Amino acid sequence: MSTIFVTGGAGFIGSALVRLLLADSDHVVVNIDKLTYAGNLESLADCADNERHIFSPTDICDRAALDALFAQHQPAGVIHLAAESHVDRSIHAAGDFIQTNFVGTFVLLEAARTYWNALPQAQRDSFRFHHVSTDEVFGSLGPTGSFSETTAYDPRSPYSASKASSDHLVRAWQHTYGLPTLVTNCSNNYGPRQFPEKLVPLMILNAVAGKPLPIYGKGANVRDWLYVDDHARALRLVFERGQVGATYCIGGNAERTNIEVVDTLCAILEELSPRRGGGSYREQKTFVADRPGHDLRYAIDATKMRRELGWSPQENFATGLRKTVAWYLANADWVGHVQSGEYRHWLERNYGNRT
Ligand code: NAD
Ligand code: TYD
Repeated sequence: MSTIFVTGGAGFIGSALVRLLLADSDHVVVNIDKLTYAGNLESLADCADNERHIFSPTDICDRAALDALFAQHQPAGVIHLAAESHVDRSIHAAGDFIQTNFVGTFVLLEAARTYWNALPQAQRDSFRFHHVSTDEVFGSLGPTGSFSETTAYDPRSPYSASKASSDHLVRAWQHTYGLPTLVTNCSNNYGPRQFPEKLVPLMILNAVAGKPLPIYGKGANVRDWLYVDDHARALRLVFERGQVGATYCIGGNAERTNIEVVDTLCAILEELSPRRGGGSYREQKTFVADRPGHDLRYAIDATKMRRELGWSPQENFATGLRKTVAWYLANADWVGHVQSGEYRHWLERNYGNRT
C-alpha cells in the first residue's frame, strides 16, 4: 500500500480517478484541490468516509503548503490534474490559466523534485510524476489525419497554450533533473459529474429546462469523445506501467461534429425524459456566434496505449452518452446544488476536520 498525490481530485476527471483508485487499488489517495468553481466535493460524496481518502484544500501554487504535504505523506508519486480547464473562460480571462496551469505546475514540479532528491535510491527509482494534459496542445486538424505522440505542438487558445507550456516544463524537468515523469494527452472527456459549462452537460441541462441549445458557428467542429471512466483507467495504467519520460496519447476513437453530439443527446433525452408539451428537443437548437479561434477538428491515434499497455475504451459513444444522460436525469440533487452554488459549502458541512 502506497500513498499517491492526486491534484485536482475534486474536478470532473480527478474525482473519477480518485473513485477508481479507492475502489480498485490499495493506495492511499491524498487529494490536493484548491476548490475553485470547478471543484466539487459532492462528486466524491461516496468516498467521504473512506479512510484511504485524505482531502487537502491546497493551491498548487503554494510551495510551503506542498512541501508540508510531501513531508507529511511521503507519496510514491503524483498524478497532476489540477488546472483551469475551460477554453471559453480562458478566452475571457487567461490570468488564472497562466497562474495555475503554468506557474502551478512549475511550483508542483519543484516541490516534487526537492522531495524526490532526498529519497533513498529505490524510492527515487520508483517515484513517478504523471502530468495529465490535453490533445488541444497539438492545435487543429484538417478533415483527415490524427494526433499522435510525435505530433508537433501548435496550441491556439489561451487554455491550450497554458497546458502546452506545462507539458514542456514537465519534460524539461525529466531531461534536466532526471525527475521520473510521464505525460498523457487526452481527447475530450464526457460523463457524469462534469461541470455544466462544457458541451455535453450544458446541452442536457438546457434541454430539460426548456432553454436554447447554443451551438457555436455551424456546429461543424469535430471532437474525439472519451467516457471519463475510460480516461481514469488509462491514467492508472500509465502511472503504474508507463515508461519514464514517455508520452501517451489517449482518445475515444469517437469523432463527432458538435451537431451530431447535440442531435444524439436530443434523441436519448426524448426516450428517457420526453419533452413537456411534446415535440423534439432539437427545436431548442440555436446557432450562436462562433468561439474566437475555434479549433476545427481534434482526433487521437491511441495505438501506443493499445499496443504497449493493452488499453482500449470500454464504452462506445452511444453507451457512454446514454449513461451520462441517465446520470444527469437521476442526480437532481448534484445538479441543483451546482446550479444554486450550494456545492461550494460541501467541505465545511460534510468533512469537518477530516482534511
Ligand atoms: P475540472 O475543471 O473539472 O477540474 C479541475 C480541478 O482542479 C478542480 O477541482 C479545481 O478546483 C482544481 N484546481 C484548479 N486550480 C487549482 C489550483 N491552483 N490548485 C489546486 N487545485 C486547483 O477539469 P477536468 O475536466 O477534470 O480536467 C482535469 C485535467 O485533465 C486538466 O489538467 C485538464 O487540462 C485535463 N484534460 C481535460 C479534458 C476534458 O475533456 N475535460 C481532456 C483532456 C485533458
Ligand atoms: P467544450 O465542451 O467547451 O470543450 P473544448 O472546447 O475543450 O473542446 O466544447 C466542445 C465543443 O463544443 C467545441 O467545439 C465548442 C462547442 N460548444 C458549443 O458549440 N456550444 C457550447 O455552448 C459549448 C460550451 C461548446
